Amino acid sequence: MERCLSKLNTLITSEQIETKIAELAARIREDYHDRNPVLVGVLKGSFVFLADIVRVLDIPLGIDFIGVSSYRGRMESSGEIELIQALRTPIAGRDVLVIEDIVDTGLSLNYVLNVLRQKTPASVKVCALLDKPSKRKITVPIDYSGFTVPDKFVVGYGLDFDEQYRYLSHICYLEEK
Ligand code: IMP
Ligand code: MG
Repeated sequence: MERCLSKLNTLITSEQIETKIAELAARIREDYHDRNPVLVGVLKGSFVFLADIVRVLDIPLGIDFIGVSSYRGRMESSGEIELIQALRTPIAGRDVLVIEDIVDTGLSLNYVLNVLRQKTPASVKVCALLDKPSKRKITVPIDYSGFTVPDKFVVGYGLDFDEQYRYLSHICYLEEK
């Protein structure tokens, strides 16, 4: 019988996200206010987080996106990372801050960091809203981390399951009904 995964349970409210973004933005602003960094959002999941944090940051910065894929509709990482959209902004000599929705195995972020480092930026740091350390396969640096989440599949606030639920303003976990 096919599993039904449509029961949504709130894990992080939109108020908690807003408070966390203010905290993260204060730290990032302090570190980057005079550096005109390039924020690189990892598509697609980071689009909501990036849109919210840049408006709270309110400092001069550039924005670009990089697209990677490893899930393809499943809940477990395939382990094979594909570059599906390249960065267009030249980042040599620039300070880069990668904006991620969630770090799970760490494989996608590790791949993104390698791609970016080859372009000789002045620095590369990482800001991830969610950290799911239980399935980590490779150590990756997270310089600005929002929430640590348990070993559950989470959706909302940009994160999807099979392209569903990205529009939710809070973060839920999916449960079998
Ligand atoms: P990783 O390569 O396993 O660290 O996973 C990287 C990407 O997979 C994240 O940036 C997300 O886009 C997606 N992902 C990982 N865990 C979840 C989850 O619980 N819900 C939704 N997407 C996830
Ligand atoms: Mg992501």
